[in-house]
Amino acid sequence: MRPKAPNLDPDTVREEVQARTQALWPRAAEAAGLAEEGAVFRRLGSNRLLEHRRCVLEVKTVDGQSFVLRADFDRVNPRALNRQLERQSKAAQSLRPVPGVSAPEMLWKDPQHPYALMAFVQGDTAYRTLALTDYGFGARDDVLRRIGKAVGELHRVSDAGVRQFWPKPFLKMVSNRALEVREGQLWLPKPNRFLGLCAHLHRAARGARGNEFRSALAHGDLHLRNIIMSERGVSFIDFLNHNAIFPQRDIADIWLANCPEHLASDGNTPGFGLVSQADWVAFEEGYGASLTDDPVFRFLFAWRLFRFWVSLGRKLPELQRNSQTAVSVVRVLDALLADEAG
Ligand SMILES: Nc1ncnc2c1ncn2[C@@H]1O[C@H](COP(=O)(O)OP(=O)(O)O)[C@@H](O)[C@H]1O
Ligand SMILES: [Mg+2]
Repeated sequence: MRPKAPNLDPDTVREEVQARTQALWPRAAEAAGLAEEGAVFRRLGSNRLLEHRRCVLEVKTVDGQSFVLRADFDRVNPRALNRQLERQSKAAQSLRPVPGVSAPEMLWKDPQHPYALMAFVQGDTAYRTLALTDYGFGARDDVLRRIGKAVGELHRVSDAGVRQFWPKPFLKMVSNRALEVREGQLWLPKPNRFLGLCAHLHRAARGARGNEFRSALAHGDLHLRNIIMSERGVSFIDFLNHNAIFPQRDIADIWLANCPEHLASDGNTPGFGLVSQADWVAFEEGYGASLTDDPVFRFLFAWRLFRFWVSLGRKLPELQRNSQTAVSVVRVLDALLADEAG
């Protein structure tokens, strides 16, 4: 007899994952010394592709306090997920003395599994805060200066000293992917243009090789939905990395993880990598260092474009068909090539 087919209806799976997460509340509440009874749960918008195994809930206790209960039931690599939560804990601790910049404090953590209760951060995602400036709420340059400053502080408290940049491991991956594309083992949109990006990365590496840079443990997934901000401050959530020390990669994530969403819009002068020139000025001012004229940063920005392009081959069919994304990666590549030529 064939085994019973698993129930794969996405809504049912989602509800099951939420029920499993809510079932952790009594343990979390007890460990954190909170009133368990009468709590109300609200699902927060998390990564759609991971909803079959991950759930992020706001928990409101009877006395009106809010917390975040987050669980990931992944069975493949729970240790890596645990390290990510530990990384957030450490960042929260290091940022304590820094006014206006934080990561939510961890109030309870399951010893083995990536289940945690943390402080709820009031505010909006940086994504929404920036989008609202298009409708006249707040000034875009002001928001970007604040984000830049906070990212600068996060990198300062995660400092890993001055190092030299050696691009060899990056270039090895570039060569491998290029070979797979040429041999038809890897399908990507606009494959010939992708090979042009690979060649650009090899050339850009020459200018960056051996250059000194200030290293710091990167956040690892620093797109604008993993930053929460309000009048009171800027907070970082959803840390991914626990050992890579290229802070430039976080900054490239901000601009490219949602490509083409944060590129210069009509009427704004495009700067490096098609990000608006005014956006770079504001961000760099806040961050406290120039980025777009630094060969190591430029290389890692192009590297982020490379990774984004590779990811398009894995995305859901509907994302693959989104030609706007494919067109935009080519436009960013054209800008990098024009910059290189000029
Ligand atoms: N500590 C928190 N305080 C307030 N909102 C949070 C907190 N943690 C997560 N969120 C909200 O939930 C969303 C998803 O959480 P996140 O940890 O980023 O999960 P995912 O890995 O699915 O992106 C965030 O984009 C944010 O809006
Ligand atoms: Mg997130």
